[in-house]
Amino acid sequence: MRIVILGAPGAGKGTQGQLLSDYLKVPKISSGDMLRAEVAGGTKIGQEVKSIMENGGLVSDELISELIRKRISKEDCKNGYLLDGYPRTLKQAETLEKAGVIIDLIINIEISDEEIILRMSGRRSHPASGRVYHVQFNPPKDPNRDDLTGEPLIQREDDAEAVVGHRLQAYHQITAPLIQWYQQKQYPFISISGQGSVQEVQSNILNKLREQ
Ligand code: AP5
Repeated sequence: MRIVILGAPGAGKGTQGQLLSDYLKVPKISSGDMLRAEVAGGTKIGQEVKSIMENGGLVSDELISELIRKRISKEDCKNGYLLDGYPRTLKQAETLEKAGVIIDLIINIEISDEEIILRMSGRRSHPASGRVYHVQFNPPKDPNRDDLTGEPLIQREDDAEAVVGHRLQAYHQITAPLIQWYQQKQYPFISISGQGSVQEVQSNILNKLREQ
């Protein structure tokens, strides 16, 4: 199955994407994680995108589309994948469509801006795996340590309040129109409320998946 997860920053795309990836046994491909790995590795791409990401802007369509194109052509994507954070602009969605990629399902996670701000401020991340926690809503077993590896967790720089404002603006202006675009083109599409516990949201997604 090839699935696209849409939703505002902090809606729970990464959290639900990871659970779904384990359930469906297909890789979760997070454009944000891929870009953060480039930044951490100090690569040419990383140097190009670092300040854009720190300020909550969007990196160029060409750059991210090329990274995704290469990633989904790998062997582990043969039986499907989950795209988390891509596409994020109409141009990116068109690029995917023109490349002949058949998307089996779009999952749109809906959540209020107020809840997003709460979630971002308490998020802790494990950069190597992309696993995310929340100090209150989804705490790690050991404070500030990843459950599986025991490695330290970090707070993302772009989770600072001022940057979250820019990210939300970019979402509402540039990414949210994708919802209508996909619906008008009659892609298989489900909308899920992102409110409620991680488990509640997950079971709503799984119930809707079974109805498909
Ligand atoms: P990216 O990493 O994709 O960030 P994002 O879309 O802003 O999404 P997040 O990772 O912040 O949130 P999420 O929806 O995955 O939520 P999560 O599950 O972590 O992108 C970062 C940057 O890279 C962008 O700003 C841009 O610069 C660049 N970029 C990436 N892709 C790009 C593209 N295609 N084009 C151009 N630029 C691109 O959950 C958030 C928190 O809430 C966690 O703490 C979690 O534990 C908690 N939580 C989750 N679910 C629940 C729940 N049900 N109840 C309570 N807490 C919950």
